[in-house]
Amino acid sequence: MSTVESHKGQLLLGTLSGKEVVAMQGRFHFYEGYSMQQLSFPVRVMKLVGINILLVSNAAGALNPEYKKGELMLLDDHINLQGDNPLIGKNEDFFGLRFPDMSAPYDKDLQNRMLAAASELGIKLHTGVYAAVPGPMLETRAEYRYLRRIGADVVGMSTVPEIICARHMNMRCLAISVITDECDPDHLQPVTLEEIIAVAGTADKKLSELFKALLTEL
Ligand code: HPA
Repeated sequence: MSTVESHKGQLLLGTLSGKEVVAMQGRFHFYEGYSMQQLSFPVRVMKLVGINILLVSNAAGALNPEYKKGELMLLDDHINLQGDNPLIGKNEDFFGLRFPDMSAPYDKDLQNRMLAAASELGIKLHTGVYAAVPGPMLETRAEYRYLRRIGADVVGMSTVPEIICARHMNMRCLAISVITDECDPDHLQPVTLEEIIAVAGTADKKLSELFKALLTEL
């Protein structure tokens, strides 16, 4: 069960842009108390029912000063600061290798198609690095400074466990962050969940258009 109010916790099966899709309307997070294995379990199931491409969206705070609220960022790479991952424990050889490669977690071809779709639709799409933290608290000013210095463009509390699990099974992955707040450590304003949800809502249409356009191409 999804315990986050803004996540509906529904699994939708159907077609979108003429392609068969399984869509999670909401996801599980580490901060809800689920183990990494539990929260990435849906990705294992998707693979087993024949899904080979994982498209992910998330809400994130901007560390890169060029990124503004309501804009989108295509993930080119990530930094896992969650202190755990779904592959800890005995390896299931059926799914993948003990030491999966992480040199390119996000699929180049999907990225290029998504960037082309964005430019065609006139939607601004940054490309950058996502840092995953456990949450549920937002970061301190010192933490935002640290995250920027280690090379992150945005920070959020999800996505990386699912991507690790999907890459373990050699699924092709693409992920987009919706920038919901600007994390400038020198002028940091308190943010509330309501504000984050409100900004995420404004990006809804752009995100749907992009995913639909990408699916048409596949
Ligand atoms: N930090 C962590 N997670 C987030 C943020 C943030 O600033 N904004 C949205 N998700």
